[in-house]
Amino acid sequence: MKRIEINASQPYPVLADRCFLSEAGTLIRRCAEDAGKAAVVTDDIVDGLYGDAVTESIRGTGFAVCRFILPHGEASKNGENYLKLLNFLAEERLSRSDLIVALGGGVVGDLAGFAAATYLRGIRYIQIPTTLLAQVDSSVGGKTAIDLPTGKNLAGVFYPPALVLCDIGTLDTLPEDVFTDGCAEVIKYGILGDEALFRHLEERGTGFDREYVIPRCIERKRALVAEDEFDRGKRQLLNLGHTLGHAAEMLSRYRLSHGRAVAMGLAEVTRAALADGSCSRECASRILAVLRRFGLPDRSEYPGEDLYQAMLSDKKRRGERTSLIVPEEIGRCVIRSCTLEEMREFFRRGRRPGGSV
Ligand code: NAD
Ligand code: GLY
Repeated sequence: MKRIEINASQPYPVLADRCFLSEAGTLIRRCAEDAGKAAVVTDDIVDGLYGDAVTESIRGTGFAVCRFILPHGEASKNGENYLKLLNFLAEERLSRSDLIVALGGGVVGDLAGFAAATYLRGIRYIQIPTTLLAQVDSSVGGKTAIDLPTGKNLAGVFYPPALVLCDIGTLDTLPEDVFTDGCAEVIKYGILGDEALFRHLEERGTGFDREYVIPRCIERKRALVAEDEFDRGKRQLLNLGHTLGHAAEMLSRYRLSHGRAVAMGLAEVTRAALADGSCSRECASRILAVLRRFGLPDRSEYPGEDLYQAMLSDKKRRGERTSLIVPEEIGRCVIRSCTLEEMREFFRRGRRPGGSV
């Protein structure tokens, strides 16, 4: 079993292996010896696949276990379900020494984490991510959130989990399109800071070696979280492709999946970086080729001005300024502070005919 220590304000380990959910109870017990009760939060699909195994394993180590099941999908990550979950925890009389186990993808993890951060002003929670995206990104780093009707992830706090159990075997049941979504985030890590990882993805496509790639992505995230847990500096690099990606998601009214939207963002920021001379044609061609190899979109069809207006909701914006994450080489990106007008012009230039790859 691979162990990756996350050096956050409250340090915690990520344990990664294949098919070890039956050991979840023992591993959770080790980090919560005083806890009496665990609330498993999951969605209806994941519950049908892994809910019983995880519940039985936790129960087997002396916990009383209750279960809260959300309908699957992004629409569940809302204020109504958040309050329902808080009420459920109160009705089940979870106390400060008890814990929440978030079993599922990023939707479950974000909402359960936010509930854990705020119920009784904070109780412990464990992440058991079951999608590729959640394993390489959302379960690590302590960002929790719910969506508001006005936008995605607009209410949330930084609140690190006590433990992350990353069972790579759970990905075997993942629908192909959900797996492909997570691949956009994996590709992002390669572009950000790992040429060897990127090359592996170029060579293997979706058949990449999961035991090699997933821990490697977690290591990348670990380094950025250790340096900048609260997203004031270098952690923002993780937003590569997300400024335009979030805008595309918003314009689609969230019918477009996060991963595909991020792929569009990666493609558009790459063309823009090529057009303004920040990245070479070779670098841009490799990024666009890898997106195509994974069956991910390599452009966004939304009009530039609509995207720009939606980008104004980006959380990186500070008044009239924002920051852009710009690829320079495979394995090297920079954070560029700019005015909103400069951002508009940057993406506009990338869309002009002539510089296309
Ligand atoms: P998701 O949680 O909606 O899961 C996608 C689908 O896969 C769901 O239908 C789910 O039921 C199903 N599923 C999950 N695991 C499965 C399995 N093992 N087998 C079969 N089906 C399974 O989506 P996601 O892509 O995991 O997460 C997206 C969310 O993550 C978004 O809300 C996004 O904002 C958030 N996110 C958060 C962070 C963070 O740092 N906190 C980072 C990136 C994304
Ligand atoms: N997913 C971006 C971050 O964790 O900062």
